[in-house]
Amino acid sequence: MSSMPYTNRKILKFSEPFLKVEYIENAKNLAISEKTIIVNADSKSEILVANKMLKPWSSSIYANVTIASAPRIICITVEPDFLSFDSFSNAHAIKKKWTKISDIISLPHLRDTNLWRSKKENVDNVELNLWFASSKTDCGIHNKHGFRELHTQIFGIGRMQKFHENDHDSLYQEVFMSPGHTHEPFYNDRCEYPWHQYHADTDCIWLAAEFDD
Ligand SMILES: [Fe+2]
Repeated sequence: MSSMPYTNRKILKFSEPFLKVEYIENAKNLAISEKTIIVNADSKSEILVANKMLKPWSSSIYANVTIASAPRIICITVEPDFLSFDSFSNAHAIKKKWTKISDIISLPHLRDTNLWRSKKENVDNVELNLWFASSKTDCGIHNKHGFRELHTQIFGIGRMQKFHENDHDSLYQEVFMSPGHTHEPFYNDRCEYPWHQYHADTDCIWLAAEFDD
């Protein structure tokens, strides 16, 4: 019988050295001491954390808890904390290491958008990657994806916004993103999205989970 508190645990390389995103399989009696964002990364099972059920692809910040059992979780920490109203301390280095949106998507309106993406890593058929947006950035309204996406806020305060049209004035819903929060799916059963965008109020970092259509 194994006494290990997990069967597989790895730090996702794309997160280093700016923060730590760990993927853990088959957690058993796993102690979480420091403030940590826990994402239930199993698509089927709820997990019990601090006497409450955490739904698949839901998340929160926890400290001083032990997770009795979880098939798949993602644990995220960032130094010194998940929120600062000043710039993110590693913003300059992230901008050098990650890829600017204009080098990923060649559209004129994104040319001056202060948005960067890390490398990606696939775990259990989910593509995981990190995004950084500078304070007061509109990250670009769009309504097409070849995948189903969810975002977990890690650092700073932002908003996921929905629009009737490809136009900021047609806003009809706003979901504030604070550290530890994963928003509800914006797509429907057919992977159709409303016009939507991420807006960063402060410097923001979030985890994107992309599922095959
Ligand atoms: Fe999107």
